[in-house]
Amino acid sequence: MGMKSDIKLIDKKGLRLDGRKPDELRPIKIEAGVLKRADGSAYLEWGKNKVLAAVYGPREAHPRHLQDSSKAIVQCRYNMAPFSVSDRKRPGPDRRSVEISKIISEALENVVMTELFPRSSIDVFIEVLEANAGTRCAGLTAASVALADAGVPMRDLVVACAAGKIEDTVVLDLGKEEDNFGQADVPLAIVPRTGELVLLQMDGDLKQEELFKAMEMAMNASMQIYEIQKDALRRRYAVVAEEEKDEIDSAQEEAKT
Ligand code: CDP
Repeated sequence: MGMKSDIKLIDKKGLRLDGRKPDELRPIKIEAGVLKRADGSAYLEWGKNKVLAAVYGPREAHPRHLQDSSKAIVQCRYNMAPFSVSDRKRPGPDRRSVEISKIISEALENVVMTELFPRSSIDVFIEVLEANAGTRCAGLTAASVALADAGVPMRDLVVACAAGKIEDTVVLDLGKEEDNFGQADVPLAIVPRTGELVLLQMDGDLKQEELFKAMEMAMNASMQIYEIQKDALRRRYAVVAEEEKDEIDSAQEEAKT
């Protein structure tokens, strides 16, 4: 954010470097249930970001001093693969990934019915395979689909999206160059059913009216992303139902012989 460059981020026609209009999202694809050994999983592509989320649990929280006798804890680990960025990233946690893990855990705790699973832990692993700005939003959006895929009881999904400012214009969903050379980035996450805000951060500077405009843009786009999440889950359940039907059919066949 705020790096100097001669690159023109918006052209004369009002279009951005990748041809998007100010209020246009990058293309988003989500697939649920991609990992066999996880209790729930999701793979998400958001522009050039590629993110995998895996969920394990609810299971007994370890070490024991972490256990809460009144509810489950949601533990998230956000990790960027060394090959996910053009300069190789040093493996292992750093200040940025610890912060992102914390804000994602807290956002998810708002929707997971933690009170149903005392002393348990619900573990969410987010692996960023390719990063191109907006990975915390991509990771959180994928994680909530993975939680639903795991059958973890939730009040709703969480959807995340960012908006910001480039060339004095408020725009949706900043890409890599826009993130580097832009003026502000505001990632947020909402619970669509209630409109609750469960994550709000800001990098850079915005006037009050610009902040409100950016938030409104990101919230409206979140409703589009919510549909993509639900669609991924519907497709997943259709596959699961088909597999179960096949199992019942073959069991009946076996019983006959
Ligand atoms: O990814 P997100 O926008 O949520 O977080 P950020 O801290 O604003 O990072 C913006 C982008 O910078 C990331 O998506 C990566 O593309 C890039 N980045 C990087 O190249 N190397 C890092 N160690 C961290 C981030």
